Formats: sequence, structure tokens, C-alpha cells
Amino acid sequence: MQNTPQSQPIVILISGGGSNMAAIVRAAQKEAWATQFGAQVAAVISNKADAGGLRFAREQGIATEVLDHKAYASRTDFDQALAAAVARFDQPDRPALVVLAGFMRILTPGFVAQHTGRLLNIHPSLLPAFTGLHTHQRAIDAGCKYAGATVHQVSAELDAGAILEQSVVPVLPGDTEQTLAARVLATEHTIYPRAIRNWLAAQARV
Ligand code: GRF
Repeated sequence: MQNTPQSQPIVILISGGGSNMAAIVRAAQKEAWATQFGAQVAAVISNKADAGGLRFAREQGIATEVLDHKAYASRTDFDQALAAAVARFDQPDRPALVVLAGFMRILTPGFVAQHTGRLLNIHPSLLPAFTGLHTHQRAIDAGCKYAGATVHQVSAELDAGAILEQSVVPVLPGDTEQTLAARVLATEHTIYPRAIRNWLAAQARV
């Protein structure tokens, strides 16, 4: 895939299965983001070499990179290398939109500051409830009747940036962490592409 000089690159960061990444790639194809917004998924970067999503990305002809966080002495060193890897896909007048899709690393304030306004994340809870890990079990334990997912801008504080999209699903009697996670994940595949599409449309209007 070749970027045109004016194109808006999208770089997706993953750590695992990459189903959100795949949903975004499919939406970009189906909705012709290249024609509509001059945007394309330029690269998928993983901090894990065995992340399942890498295979899908390669099959789609998308550039992939692995940056193993364990190979870096500190979080700052890793984030600097990550920023450099992302920047390789910047266009001269269009820095990449960075999409965290199941990327299981907390980013340093330096990385976040460098990408302010163009750094998105999806979190599997109805923020501001249940920041952090084990969101589905915590929602079940709290007796929540509804759960969901949130797409948000990333700010220096964990899971606290401006909310862009949310999905809501019922918590059903007998739900386990796994059944609730699966119900929420299916909705993530709708709201994440939608949030990105809206972000691209807003950029196009500037
Ligand atoms: C998603 O539930 C996402 O919200 C969370 O991790 C999961 C990643 O799934 N942060 P996938 O790798 O996109 O399939």
C-alpha cells in the first residue's frame, strides 16, 4: 500500500488478537476511507511478536513492525523507539493518527504529549467507570445491569481522555467475564471504526 503525498496515515498499535484492528481495516476498505478522506492504515505495530493480529495485517499487505518492550531498559526508552517507529509513517504535513487497539502498554506522558489530539484508545468499560484491568469481572461483581466500551482520546491520565463513542450492552444473568467480554467486543468493532471515521471527517473539514 502506497501513501499519496497528502494522505492521512493511520498507525494501529496492538498486543494480541487484533480483532479491533481487523474491524478498522475492513471498515477502511468497505467505506473507501482512501477516497473519502485520503486516509489509509499505513502500519500495524505490535509489542509482541506472537500477536495474532500481525498475520491478518500482513495478509492485507499492511506494513507490520514488532517492537518488543522487554528489549528496552525503561518505559521511556521503549516509548521513544515506538514514537520513532510511528513517525516513519508520518506524511510531511500529516502526522499519523495513532490507534491503540488492545495495546497493553501504559504510554509515558512524553509519548502522549507528542501525539495529543491524534491518539485514540478503546477501553472495555463505560468510562469513567472501571478504568484499568479486569473491567468485565468488576462490572459483574458490582452488580451492573449494563456494561459497554468507550473510545476516547488518550490523555496523560489513564483511561481519562475525552469520550468519543460508547456502546452499551446488558449484563445478563449467569454472565461470566468471558461471555460479557464477547458481547462487549462485538460492539467495539462498530464504535471504533465509527470514531475513527468521525475523526477523519473532522480533520477533512479543517
Ligand atoms: C478489547 O476488548 C479492547 O477493548 C481491550 O482489549 C481487547 C482487545 O481485543 N483493550 P482485540 O485485540 O482488538 O481483539
